Amino acid sequence: MNNDTITATDNATGNQIDLPIRRGSLGPAVADIGHLYQALGYFTYDPGFVSTASCRSGITFIDGEQGVLLYRGYPIEQLAEKSNFLEVAYLLLYGELPDRQQFDAFTTTLRHHSMINKSLERFYDGFYHDAHPMAVMTGVVGSLSAFYHDSTDIHNPQHRELAAQRMIAKMPTIAAASYKHSIGESFVPPQNSLSYSGNFLNMMFSVPSEPYTVDPLAEKALDMLFILHADHEQNASTSTVRLAGSSGANPFACIASGIAALWGPAHGGANEAVLRMLEEIGDAGNIPKYLAKAKDKNDPFRLMGFGHRVYKNHDPRARIVRRMCHEVLATRAQQNDPLFELALRLEEIALSDDYFIDHKLYPNVDFYSGIIYKALGIPSQMFTVMFAIARTVGWVAQWMEMIAEPQQRIGRPRQLYDGPSRRDYHEMDERG
Ligand code: SDX
Repeated sequence: MNNDTITATDNATGNQIDLPIRRGSLGPAVADIGHLYQALGYFTYDPGFVSTASCRSGITFIDGEQGVLLYRGYPIEQLAEKSNFLEVAYLLLYGELPDRQQFDAFTTTLRHHSMINKSLERFYDGFYHDAHPMAVMTGVVGSLSAFYHDSTDIHNPQHRELAAQRMIAKMPTIAAASYKHSIGESFVPPQNSLSYSGNFLNMMFSVPSEPYTVDPLAEKALDMLFILHADHEQNASTSTVRLAGSSGANPFACIASGIAALWGPAHGGANEAVLRMLEEIGDAGNIPKYLAKAKDKNDPFRLMGFGHRVYKNHDPRARIVRRMCHEVLATRAQQNDPLFELALRLEEIALSDDYFIDHKLYPNVDFYSGIIYKALGIPSQMFTVMFAIARTVGWVAQWMEMIAEPQQRIGRPRQLYDGPSRRDYHEMDERG
């Protein structure tokens, strides 16, 4: 009996296979099922990947039971309090926190890639003004794959690094331009004298006819939100980027696939859906009705911003965002923002409800983030775009890790087939 294996036995035939146990540095070990089909003729079946590890990674660790989130071993709470988004981006990409020289070189490089090709700006004209910004982002980021032929040999580490730096640097510029396009204003170019978050705010809200000064609290809040959203191990959009990248696809096209996956309301689209839900609930008196809908199996309504596939305790990011909500709203006219008050009340009631307690449904990172974005003047259709700007760092870090993996192969899942057995074609007149 070997402690480093799990024995799988086919009780119908008595055939067995010892599955090797692979252990990481933290979290559950895995049973390597790579030879299961060859030995016993069975595929494994795990739609939604509830119990399935798709890869080996050293970037982000989550303990869903304890509410722990580590970026390269550093607790998210410490990074949110003490670091800044570009330092966290460096950490996620390269595995260690930078020294002063490394950080200055990294930020200088990003600043020199923050502009977008002039012809790329014409892509926006193809979108009607009321196009959802996530549709614009998916299209424009995908179109980057038509440029930069000097950085798409994915087996060249310098090309991979340059593609990653370009993507991180250009996302705020592309995002702000999608907002400006939606309101019919001219695009504002990046200002290299500003911070990453400050530059984004300037590109979003400054106009040629007026001076614009970046609000330090807005800059700090945005930088912290970018840190919290930067990476989250193998979530749906990151897994999409990995799968697209596993075929050797263009890196910019892979990031566009991640944007598409993030857009869904079950994933990154939840922050926009939370605000719509709070506006629909309107008043705390309506909360019981909506909780009943959320519990009704025949009602598709879900309490947006609640629940998580991994966190079965609190989402550590939600607690940090809730605190930042108080800080941002305290300095703004929306000090008593009715939506924030409603969100606090909804959280309080939901967390004392047996259904939510039994199902371990807690507020996730999306529950409060939209309230901050709204307080900063960012429209709700841009909320998931904000998530995409931050998650681009995680997507490119995970993509670089995957491509550099010596055993990297194309991802190609199998299936449980339950369609028709073999049958012959008959001419239309002969079909009964
Ligand atoms: C993000 O994966 C990541 O790491 C994602 C993310 C990241 O940083 O990348 O953390 C970001 O996507 C956060 C999640 C944002 N989505 C939402 O807030 C949408 C609302 N939440 C749900 O749709 C749901 O909770 C999910 C999608 C987040 C998780 O879905 P699961 O793990 O597939 O769980 P499930 O749908 O199987 O639900 C389990 C049970 C079900 O009840 P039973 O059938 O077992 O009785 O819990 C119930 C569900 O009905 N349930 C909810 C609920 N979420 C789950 N019931 C009411 N309201 C909810 N929000």
